[in-house]
Amino acid sequence: MKTLCCLIPLLFLLSCFLSLSQTHLPKPYCLDDQRSPLLQLQTHLYSDFTFSSKFEVWDPNIDCCSWEGVSCDSLGHVIGLDLSYKNLSGSFHSIFDLHHLHRLNLAGNNFNTTLLSYGFDKIPHLTHLNLSNSCFHGQIPMEISNLTRLVSLDLSHQDDCYSRNDAFDYYYLKLEKPNLKTLIKNLKFLTELYLDEVDISSESSKWCETTSLVLSNLQVLSLSWCGLEGPLCPSLSRLSFLSKLVLDYNPISYLPPNFLEISSRLVSLSLMDCNLSSHFPTEILLLPKIQSIDISYNGRLEGQLPEFPSNNALRSLSLSATNFSGSIPSSIENLTHLVNLDLSENHFSGHFPRKVFLLPKIQSTDISDNERLEGQLTEFPSNNALRSLSLSYTNFSGKLPESIGNLKFLTDLTLSRCNFVGSIPSSIANLSIVLNCGCGLCRGCGRSVAVADAADVT
Ligand SMILES: *[C@@H]1O[C@H](CO)[C@@H](O)[C@H](O)[C@H]1NC(C)=O
Ligand SMILES: *[C@@H]1O[C@H](CO)[C@@H](O)[C@H](O)[C@H]1NC(C)=O
Ligand SMILES: *[C@@H]1O[C@H](CO)[C@@H](O)[C@H](O)[C@H]1NC(C)=O
Ligand SMILES: *[C@@H]1O[C@H](CO)[C@@H](O)[C@H](O)[C@H]1NC(C)=O
Ligand SMILES: *[C@@H]1O[C@H](CO)[C@@H](O)[C@H](O)[C@H]1NC(C)=O
Ligand SMILES: *[C@@H]1O[C@H](CO)[C@@H](O)[C@H](O)[C@H]1NC(C)=O
Ligand SMILES: *[C@@H]1O[C@H](CO)[C@@H](O)[C@H](O)[C@H]1NC(C)=O
Ligand SMILES: *[C@@H]1O[C@H](CO)[C@@H](O)[C@H](O)[C@H]1NC(C)=O
Ligand SMILES: *[C@@H]1O[C@H](CO)[C@@H](O)[C@H](O)[C@H]1NC(C)=O
Repeated sequence: MKTLCCLIPLLFLLSCFLSLSQTHLPKPYCLDDQRSPLLQLQTHLYSDFTFSSKFEVWDPNIDCCSWEGVSCDSLGHVIGLDLSYKNLSGSFHSIFDLHHLHRLNLAGNNFNTTLLSYGFDKIPHLTHLNLSNSCFHGQIPMEISNLTRLVSLDLSHQDDCYSRNDAFDYYYLKLEKPNLKTLIKNLKFLTELYLDEVDISSESSKWCETTSLVLSNLQVLSLSWCGLEGPLCPSLSRLSFLSKLVLDYNPISYLPPNFLEISSRLVSLSLMDCNLSSHFPTEILLLPKIQSIDISYNGRLEGQLPEFPSNNALRSLSLSATNFSGSIPSSIENLTHLVNLDLSENHFSGHFPRKVFLLPKIQSTDISDNERLEGQLTEFPSNNALRSLSLSYTNFSGKLPESIGNLKFLTDLTLSRCNFVGSIPSSIANLSIVLNCGCGLCRGCGRSVAVADAADVT
């Protein structure tokens, strides 16, 4: 008892001391040879696409280690520079005089230039390089392959920058010389590689083998719109840490025989519009780790929904515009984590289990364009989280429940070409959505409901 009494004030003192020493810890003070390249950088950057307003956020009278986006080590070397999403354009050569940099993020700017004249090998300590979505174009420079400590490399989505700036011409980054193999061959520590929309089409199907053999620490591989050919290679199974695989919009065409094994580590799989055909191994939908699957727009890909156990982790399932058929097992109601379900444009038939609309986390359900799918709406409790519901071109029938007015988060409701009967519930007027069916209930703020052509609704 006595020791405890002493211990408490002691602990109190100790914690006071700790918090004092924390606030009084000397802040790193920026060194001159770090400050001057930053000041130079500031004079060469503009905050818009048209070079009319200067980038002026850093006050020269303040220690540069305290400047927005700048971080230093304890000796006052700049080790991090985050200038993401600042609408920057202009030249950033002086960044390459910050030889201690570990992290550089220039994502979301408007540079509209190539990467060729910069000399990335002058910042060899770089572990994180993010140049995504900044209107960079042309060949990816050889010196990036010298950044052997890179853990994360993101050069993706330069096209987003062009569309953000309403540019009509799109210029892509490309990997030709060096090719992908040369770029990555020394980047053994990479855990994340994002090259979406980089033109890698000169690589043939070897890209897959190369990546699996070299980047054994990879956790994220995101290569949508790269012009990659298939088939996917069986050696992807060597990537034992891979948790996210995104290959949308590449004509992969064929999955390897061990694709189920490869997928068993994945949390997220996206193979949208990959020219896949024949049978999809739907056991993937049952893998214990998988949370997100998107195989939409593979019109010749066949499959049937499996029986779902209750411990399934799926949050998002998108099978839109594939050739899935058969009935929808009532065990789909076991998917208690489901947020997004898209089964549209398929050949599902039979009865749609209506408790899906009541799943605790469901926000978006699209089962439209399944002409032989029957079903009825359920009564909606007032805590329902649905934001988007699309049932058009199905054989849904019965009455629209008055409790549809309980869907207070609903912004999108599409019920055209179903077999609903009866009147449109007046409670719909309580939703903050616009009815574009000209049925006299229209109000709200630019969101849309399509009950149009719901021929039998009177
Ligand atoms: C970037 O520019 C756009 C339009 O030119 C503007 O809407 C946006 O607020 C700007 N963002 C920043 C961070 O300055
Ligand atoms: C981007 O640069 C190209 C030349 O490299 C030029 O033709 C184009 O107009 C620029 N785009 C914008 C939106 O400034
Ligand atoms: C790159 O930066 C952007 C903007 O900060 C961010 O959204 C994106 O996730 C980053 N990429 C990586 C790989 O961290
Ligand atoms: C960059 O990598 C190339 C090829 O691996 C090598 O020949 C060159 O010496 C490296 N340059 C530097 C500065 O490390
Ligand atoms: C799509 O896959 C088929 C085989 O199913 C193949 O014959 C065709 O060449 C592929 N298309 C493209 C664009 O790769
Ligand atoms: C879709 O699958 C059915 C068999 O279930 C087959 O008859 C049909 O040809 C397939 N359609 C396409 C576009 O592959
Ligand atoms: C899954 O759902 C089915 C049908 O709704 C049910 O019979 C079954 O018990 C559920 N499975 C588990 C493991 O909970
Ligand atoms: C729609 O359902 C009705 C019965 O409710 C049935 O008679 C009709 O054949 C179904 N239509 C289609 C296209 O499956
Ligand atoms: C609209 O909401 C109010 C308040 O929540 C409720 O009293 C009223 O009955 C609702 N109107 C309709 C037509 O459901």
